[in-house]
Amino acid sequence: MKTIIITGISGVLGEALGKYYLRKGWRVIGVSRRNDLDNGAFTELLTSKQESVEDVHRFLSYNPDIIVLNAGQIETEIGERGVPLQDQFDSITSVNYTFPATVALQASQISRNRPLDIIAIGSIADGSPSAFGPVYHASKIALHYFFSGVGPIVNHANRNIRMRLYRPGAIKGPLAWAPVNRLNAQGYRIRAKRVNGAPEADHVARVVAEWIASGKWVGTFDEPFSFKLFKWLFALNPNFFYRLQVFGWKKGSKFV
Ligand SMILES: NC(=O)c1ccc[n+]([C@@H]2O[C@H](COP(=O)([O-])OP(=O)(O)OC[C@H]3O[C@@H](n4cnc5c(N)ncnc54)[C@H](OP(=O)(O)O)[C@@H]3O)[C@@H](O)[C@H]2O)c1
Repeated sequence: MKTIIITGISGVLGEALGKYYLRKGWRVIGVSRRNDLDNGAFTELLTSKQESVEDVHRFLSYNPDIIVLNAGQIETEIGERGVPLQDQFDSITSVNYTFPATVALQASQISRNRPLDIIAIGSIADGSPSAFGPVYHASKIALHYFFSGVGPIVNHANRNIRMRLYRPGAIKGPLAWAPVNRLNAQGYRIRAKRVNGAPEADHVARVVAEWIASGKWVGTFDEPFSFKLFKWLFALNPNFFYRLQVFGWKKGSKFV
């Protein structure tokens, strides 16, 4: 029986992924900070803060075939006038970027006789920075850079370790509302339209699982044209992009 570890198993996508792999006959180790979870999405619950090297070694002790680093956090609280808060910055950076990177680094050191796929769940938000979800975007951008930059080295050094990245778009659920706490009424309406039209987690989970089976390095759920445009602008002219953010903040922020 194959084993998959899924972090954020209590969340919208984690639960859907867990149920998908259970239906396929896998042993699902669901990871949560909670110890009282019972959502029918795992074979075994692993309670973990997902912070340290020791936490990674508990994951590896299950001898998994796949680890999906799906836990993720947005800025649920912001400071006065929209400035990010230090404790939110610390925990978002840890769960969205440094812990997935630590899992990959630790896994690169183990000896394996069969493949281990380490799947980081990024976001289409990793294409460009945003004044409306700055800490989230920055953490996902860092994750994408790390997996694309370190992954080839690790795979060459340890052929059985494959660092891969999947970039979902909005999924119906609370996390899709990422930027709303800085938006004014007009910006909120635009975001609401996008979130209300977002696909259900079950559908996204199936697409992610099929992509995992495909063996590709990086996968992307439908990316709206506006995201592609921002990504190109940021890459081609970062100073112009910054000025656009200054303009966007004046237009769309509730603090101005
Ligand atoms: N939803 C979207 O629109 C969207 C779009 C693009 C990308 N994504 C990405 O897809 C992944 C899943 O999203 P989702 O919508 O399923 O999120 P979700 O429903 O909010 O679930 C995320 C789970 O992550 C865990 N978590 C949150 N903060 C944590 C922390 N500081 N340390 C450890 N665990 C933490 C929580 O589990 P416990 O409380 O049980 O520990 C939570 O249930 C995330 O990485 C997200 O960034 C989502």
